[in-house]
Amino acid sequence: MRPTQAPYPATRLRRTRKSAATRALVRENYLSAGDLIWPVFVRQGDGVEEPIPSMPGVLRRSVDKIAEAAREAADLGIPAMCIFPYTEAADRTEDCAEAWSAQNLSNRATRAIKAAVPDMVVMTDVALDPYNINGHDGFVENGEIVNDRTVEALVKMAVAQAEAGADIIGPSDMMDGRIGAIRAALEAGSHDKVSILSYSAKYASGFYGPFRDAVGASGALTGDKKTYQMDPANSDEALRLVERDLSEGADMVMVKPGMPYLDICRRVKDAFGAPTFAYQVSGEYAMLQAAAQNGWLDGDKVMMESLMAFKRAGCDGVLTYFAPAAAKLLAGSDWRSA
Ligand code: PBG
Repeated sequence: MRPTQAPYPATRLRRTRKSAATRALVRENYLSAGDLIWPVFVRQGDGVEEPIPSMPGVLRRSVDKIAEAAREAADLGIPAMCIFPYTEAADRTEDCAEAWSAQNLSNRATRAIKAAVPDMVVMTDVALDPYNINGHDGFVENGEIVNDRTVEALVKMAVAQAEAGADIIGPSDMMDGRIGAIRAALEAGSHDKVSILSYSAKYASGFYGPFRDAVGASGALTGDKKTYQMDPANSDEALRLVERDLSEGADMVMVKPGMPYLDICRRVKDAFGAPTFAYQVSGEYAMLQAAAQNGWLDGDKVMMESLMAFKRAGCDGVLTYFAPAAAKLLAGSDWRSA
């Protein structure tokens, strides 16, 4: 008989971790390609794929190349893409009229993706910053970002996107009242099947830096976005924003950035049980890629770990620049490699 040592641990939690098979049996969360929304940058031209230095591995693509990327994404099982335009200086004006032009880059990319892959979900961004001379998400009057006049423009922009074939409208501007106004306009315009994924809890974050390079807004932005994006110190306020947006007709809500705000993801999911997404933003992507390129981190490992963290925090899905790379890894994996 084995000598017994008292007190021995009655609960040995290591028992469920002893092999890949037992770990698979008790695994609580799963990540699949179906959880991913891939943000892509579109620029003018034909046959163009241009690297973005602060986002290694991410390209600005011309419309034809976006359609090609949509086919690749569909083959990898990625269900959705989110379009961001890189606008030339000539398309940035005080009245932001390009934002609701049927022929703007974003709307052309939407039509190209829907033509190439009809069942790819296309999400579009509603905010004036790509078209605004001063880089702000709303109109500026006497040094202030004005709310209600901005909402009127955002409504026109959202309707133009729906008319181009967008499946999900993503208001990222943080103006008050925009969800209700956009929802009403979509209903009135027979776009009742178009969803709204509201950037409800969007923080005034330093992690957007590389994105502003990617869309050509870095030089354009005057001042900061603190009068409309959230204070990183706040958490209860995120719940009020989500509650408000759901009551105005949002179908899904987002927390942004992602990794530094996992506590907010969990609170939002627990409080409302609504479809909840996190945006793993450009700066989060850039820092992981930079460390991996230096050999300081194992890039694949931290990519998958960071994405799983969103699932664990209660998110239903993630907007991530890693979408194709993660989907490729997931395609070849089962429980043995998890
Ligand atoms: C702007 C917008 C931003 C991002 C998405 N939409 C930047 C900002 O608010 O300045 C950031 C995305 C990222 O960093 O990956 N409407």
